[in-house]
Amino acid sequence: MLSTALLLLVTHAAATCVPRPKAYASTADGKYKISPYSAPVLGPGSPGNSSTWDLSIDDTPSGYKQKVTGFGAALTETTVDVFDKLPADQLAQLLKELMTSEGNNFAIMRHTIGSSDLSPEPAMSYDDNGGNAGVVDPSLAHFDIGSRGLAMAAMLKSMKELNPNMVTLGSCWGPPGWMQNDHILVGAGINTLNHSYSEQYGEYFVKYIQAFEAAGAHIDAITIQNEPLNNNSGMPSLVIEPAESGQLIHDFVGPALRHAGLETEIWAYDHNTDRPDYPQTVFDMAPEYVNTAAWHCYANPIDWTVLTEFYHNNSHVEGFKQFHTECWTSNIYTGWNQAADFTMGPMQNWAMGSLAWTLATDTNDGPCLDTPGACCTCTGLVVVDTAAGTYNFTTDYYMMGQFSKFMPQGATVLEGTGSYTYSSGGGVESVASLNPDGTRSVVIENKFGNPIYITLTTKGGETWSGLVEAESVTTWVLPPILSAI
Ligand SMILES: *[C@@H]1O[C@H](CO)[C@@H](O)[C@H](O)[C@H]1NC(C)=O
Ligand SMILES: *[C@@H]1O[C@H](CO)[C@@H](O)[C@H](O)[C@H]1NC(C)=O
Ligand SMILES: *[C@@H]1O[C@H](CO)[C@@H](O)[C@H](O)[C@H]1NC(C)=O
Ligand SMILES: *[C@@H]1O[C@H](CO)[C@@H](O)[C@H](O)[C@H]1NC(C)=O
Ligand SMILES: *[C@@H]1O[C@H](CO)[C@@H](O)[C@H](O)[C@H]1NC(C)=O
Repeated sequence: MLSTALLLLVTHAAATCVPRPKAYASTADGKYKISPYSAPVLGPGSPGNSSTWDLSIDDTPSGYKQKVTGFGAALTETTVDVFDKLPADQLAQLLKELMTSEGNNFAIMRHTIGSSDLSPEPAMSYDDNGGNAGVVDPSLAHFDIGSRGLAMAAMLKSMKELNPNMVTLGSCWGPPGWMQNDHILVGAGINTLNHSYSEQYGEYFVKYIQAFEAAGAHIDAITIQNEPLNNNSGMPSLVIEPAESGQLIHDFVGPALRHAGLETEIWAYDHNTDRPDYPQTVFDMAPEYVNTAAWHCYANPIDWTVLTEFYHNNSHVEGFKQFHTECWTSNIYTGWNQAADFTMGPMQNWAMGSLAWTLATDTNDGPCLDTPGACCTCTGLVVVDTAAGTYNFTTDYYMMGQFSKFMPQGATVLEGTGSYTYSSGGGVESVASLNPDGTRSVVIENKFGNPIYITLTTKGGETWSGLVEAESVTTWVLPPILSAI
């Protein structure tokens, strides 16, 4: 029921030119791509014959949760390679769409320090000194980010020019082969760090950050090892145990950055949610250097509530932050709601942002390393036809945009209820934010094969109602809290 008081407020609001509620939708079938959609109405509305679903948000201070840093994806060497094959005007347009409100308004980019599996052959580090099994270089005299590193730095620089608030995370897939006990960057063997080179390992990050800064790319944070529990012979990788990571950061990487006068943050872990003891160990062993955890999505089954538990265990840590830094998308293997799920779950559970793997590939999901285990079915959010010099966005890009366009940096995530997913896969999931301009964004993921009529109540006493399409993500942008006008 729309109360008389609320009616008066609405009349008043209309008179003082308050923004109208708006809605935007993206659907699995591609009919809607962050397209304007029928806006929610104040009050219970008319569900007609549609199934109904109730949601609530607490938009008062008691419901304020984490701040949003932003959303984005990984700039692999492959991403840069295919972007640089676009004609200059196409690339300029693409970057504008990625980094500004003309498109997805991305605000975090994760880039690979050297090669990952999504690199053109051959894989490289920034100090190979003669190839994957290069000669030891204890003074790092042969350190060189090379043409690929320079192209990566230039791309990051261009992106940050378009969004000056962009946060850049660098993640290392593997240090130079000569620092590893199997003495090879890509290959099978005792895939661990040779601790005789712990000091060089710390210096390696200093030199990388300095080289990128010199090339105009600012690095805000690093993870010392992507997926440190992943012993993968098909790509640069390195196994680092939890206490080993804590010790390397405390004794070598942290001091090396400090000594060089760098304020680059070091984020812990960068791997799956099934081992929260890993980032906890790093937090406990290197508290003067680490207050941020990075999570990936590949635990099976995935349980994002681990992030809420990790938040409660560490909310006393000054400057505590956590991010979802990696989940893949694939044209072949992942469903329409892959990106929606890996953005929704972390944001419901105290993450300050969520990132896809990977930002771009060509029309064959490449180029990728020519080794078993390399992901040659990972599809970028952007697909570049390198021959035609054109690009397309995937469904995952639009699904992420339903969050990133409407939950800007500095927004406050709100407590909410009503999200539920059945074991059959159907359900409605939602997350909301209070934005710096006072508007409120409510992202609603409908995982049912039929439209759902949503009724949202706010702690402030409003009711909003409207339809969301089958298999869609819909974002409502509500005007500032009515009682506050
Ligand atoms: C529900 O109503 C809409 C139009 O109001 C109609 O197109 C649709 O077929 C109806 N669905 C059912 C299951 O009756
Ligand atoms: C580790 O490095 C030291 C110093 O160069 C070397 O003597 C040792 O053989 C290396 N260990 C392995 C397993 O390669
Ligand atoms: C990684 O796998 C290789 C075999 O591919 C094995 O030799 C090695 O012991 C494994 N573990 C580590 C920590 O390197
Ligand atoms: C939180 O702390 C408890 C008590 O130490 C521990 O059992 C639990 O595993 C921790 N959870 C996470 C996600 O870190
Ligand atoms: C983009 O989509 C259009 C229409 O489906 C198609 O013709 C074109 O080849 C696609 N381009 C790329 C780069 O995938």
